[in-house]
Amino acid sequence: MKGYQESLALLTLGLCAATGGALLGSDPAVLDYDRLTRYTARVSFLFFLPVFTLSALSHFVRHPTVLALRPRRRQLGITFGIAHLAHFGAILLFHRHHGTWFTAEDGAALFIYALLGVQVATSNTPAVRALGKLWRPTHWVASYALFVGFFTTYLGRLQESGAPVFLLLFGLASAAWALRVAAFFSKRRPGPLSAT
Ligand code: HEM
Repeated sequence: MKGYQESLALLTLGLCAATGGALLGSDPAVLDYDRLTRYTARVSFLFFLPVFTLSALSHFVRHPTVLALRPRRRQLGITFGIAHLAHFGAILLFHRHHGTWFTAEDGAALFIYALLGVQVATSNTPAVRALGKLWRPTHWVASYALFVGFFTTYLGRLQESGAPVFLLLFGLASAAWALRVAAFFSKRRPGPLSAT
């Protein structure tokens, strides 16, 4: 558990805030399962952002905080996995409360959960060794699948409601993607020495 304490403490705080927000629903005596589902997704998104962008960010920003966090991406990734599992837990409560269940429409989202499971299960040194060259593409695909999940959900919410909070969340997702694309092209650009 060494090195995980801070991120797990932050996650606990985030999930408490999500539950608190859900308890402040229309009826204060009843947990608002719609809100709980939404807020747990939001908490997990806040953990997803650094996991998705730290490598690209450290390419442009050499700030000590960024450099200190970069080698801790694995811990952050696992914390994000737990956070997103909390979203899944909230979805199960949501279904139980409404007497509903998953439908075929949830297929893509459930597939993303399966990829997240693979990502978390292979976020350790023995798995890195066992997967060898397959490790990077596997994690790349899982990260982008999760990104697409957040990006399309927030794009949809923004189009539906136009609420400023969704503009902010969609803006964060777009900025994260732009940062990764910029780092990708910046790393491919030949340095001054290779031109000579
Ligand atoms: C079968 C799997 C899933 C189900 C049934 C599901 C269901 C839900 C429900 C009921 C809500 C709350 C109601 C709403 O805001 O419309 C929600 C919110 C959300 N979910 Fe999921 N979800 C699933 C998987 C995922 C995955 C894999 C991602 C991202 C990779 C994701 C991202 C989000 C986001 C971003 C929100 C909105 C949070 C906000 O309003 O800030 N969900 N989901």
